Amino acid sequence: MIPIAKACLDGNEKKYLAQCVDTEWISSAGKFVDEFEKLNSSFYDTKYAVAVSNGTVALHLALLALGIKEGDEVIVPDFTFAATANAVLYIGAKPVLCDVKADSWNIDIDKCKNLLSDKTKAIIPVHVYGQACDMDEIMTFAKENNLFVIEDCAEAHGAEYKGKRIGSIGDIGCFSFFGNKIITTGEGGICTTNSQELNDRMRVLRDHGMNKSKRYWHDEVGYNYRMTNMQAAIGVAQMENVDTILKKRNEIEALYNSILGKSEHIILRKEDKDKVNWLYSFMIKDADLEMITKIQEELKSEGIDSRSFFFPLHKMPPYKDLKKSNLDNSISISARGLSLPTYNQLELTTVEHIANTVLSILENKI
Ligand SMILES: Cc1ncc(COP(=O)(O)O)c(C=O)c1O
Repeated sequence: MIPIAKACLDGNEKKYLAQCVDTEWISSAGKFVDEFEKLNSSFYDTKYAVAVSNGTVALHLALLALGIKEGDEVIVPDFTFAATANAVLYIGAKPVLCDVKADSWNIDIDKCKNLLSDKTKAIIPVHVYGQACDMDEIMTFAKENNLFVIEDCAEAHGAEYKGKRIGSIGDIGCFSFFGNKIITTGEGGICTTNSQELNDRMRVLRDHGMNKSKRYWHDEVGYNYRMTNMQAAIGVAQMENVDTILKKRNEIEALYNSILGKSEHIILRKEDKDKVNWLYSFMIKDADLEMITKIQEELKSEGIDSRSFFFPLHKMPPYKDLKKSNLDNSISISARGLSLPTYNQLELTTVEHIANTVLSILENKI
């Protein structure tokens, strides 16, 4: 079976991990955590980067550091992975669900405007499936309405918007390093920011609220959201290869696009040369979830794994009663989308084979 995703660990991952074991630095103290933070702040061109245990807690930590509290409202896209909304719910705040744009699949600011109230404190744009949101539009909207911006960059390591890497534009950028992500540490996350105040706040909250100059003195209740030296060791090795990783993923995307783009049944995502290829994703014209499931079954019988898109958040029990905009695009994108195997070890001949298999299944189905 060709899997949908696979970590690529062919650099110094094993060597650095062995150093953690050999030196017995396996918890959150150790040189790799500092090094990983420095590599990230330099790559994303932010002053600070705070490593944490996963991408979901990165979002939670960002909301805490910005002072979002119970009863506040935070605008999130309806079309995203559940963690974006869950982090808001952990605070006791309310996620407010906004539709996405039909062509970019990212949050539609025009539809956010009617969702504002005097409780709205922040917005979390998600650079979904590797493509940057329209950050000019978002930053203007946030400024006009006095909102904090937390960029959810979990699926878009290295994507750019007008020459800037995502994660460096809003107040805080939150990344995930789960095993299927572009850069992985197994489980892991990081918060990027240019604010010294937010950096300091996140470091204290990440470490049980412990006073920085008086160890074991706690001024408040914090969390254990620390990244281990072992996770960071893998991360350092990954960051050494980030350019190669991104380049290969782009080649995979270009090849999928060139083959699938010929089919009248397929809708490719709006072209964006600065996007990155997390999971290669496209839509099938006039499809619904039932048809997508059948195509997936046929792909499986050919030994090819695939993934349908995220369900619209508002369709699922924890989120169905949340305040929302019209969500037509989220519903239609979710029902028609399909993601194909994307990982660095994938041979281009295999990409060709997968794309041609999709085309022949579509010829028989439609
Ligand atoms: C958009 C988005 N936000 C947040 C997360 C949460 O990251 P993690 O799985 O590392 O907690 C993910 C990924 O899994 C994601 O895709």
